[in-house]
Amino acid sequence: MSKNAEALAAQIKGAAGEAPVRLGLILGSGLGHIANEVDGVAIPYGDLPGFPHTGVSGHNANLVIGDFEGVRVAVFGGRAHYYESGRGDAMRLPLEVLKALGADMMLATNAAGSMRDDMPTGSIMCLSDHINFSGLNPLIGEPTDARFVPMKDAYDPDIRKGLRAAATAAGVEMADGVYAWYSGPSFETPAEIKAIGMLGADAVGMSTVPEVILARFLGLRAAAISTITNMAAGMSNEAISHEHTKAMAPLGAAKLETVLRGYLRGLL
Ligand code: HPA
Repeated sequence: MSKNAEALAAQIKGAAGEAPVRLGLILGSGLGHIANEVDGVAIPYGDLPGFPHTGVSGHNANLVIGDFEGVRVAVFGGRAHYYESGRGDAMRLPLEVLKALGADMMLATNAAGSMRDDMPTGSIMCLSDHINFSGLNPLIGEPTDARFVPMKDAYDPDIRKGLRAAATAAGVEMADGVYAWYSGPSFETPAEIKAIGMLGADAVGMSTVPEVILARFLGLRAAAISTITNMAAGMSNEAISHEHTKAMAPLGAAKLETVLRGYLRGLL
């Protein structure tokens, strides 16, 4: 753990209290409102030296520490993407801080394009695995042997089971699938989508994979849920744009929030 992360954790505990956090939640495009549901203290990233400056519209750059369904959580309203800085490890410090706050779990959310007709816009998908289609890795340059992180069951089977149980109990349909990380910021070409689909991906997006690799590196259990905001390029005549992503995210967001709330209640 870096000294910087320890110092930031001390600063955050000073503002939000000493009680350990159980779970970190990273909010994707169009999902920022979930932070408002948390009863706690919001700290702007700008007050946390070393936290990323994220300029992506649809993301609120606040860290919120507080109770969500009775569970103490850290909500990262702003996520740094590889495409903003060219740095694959842009979320490393926030995740180190999460660990220093006592959490042992990270749940990432994102907006994604679908490659599956049975997973249309407005669906949600629990990630079962990923394909790193970018060839990048947030651990490049990490000097210790800890960099050789095993990635089997990177998406924690127990957390996934809990999320599935919460979805079933609430009557929410949630697909299971493989997410491919494409660096962005341009969207994929139809030929790329065809290729990624043949490789075994069900959805595609520009985030989450680096965070899951970093979480596993730090010894955090990881899980992730996508909201499907569009059919991927060439799959339909639907327009693909960031505006469209933000406009469509609320369709799946309500389902995602229901699953998340049920999962958190199950942790008590
Ligand atoms: N591709 C990549 N990222 C995305 C998409 C997509 O189609 N939709 C939302 N985020």
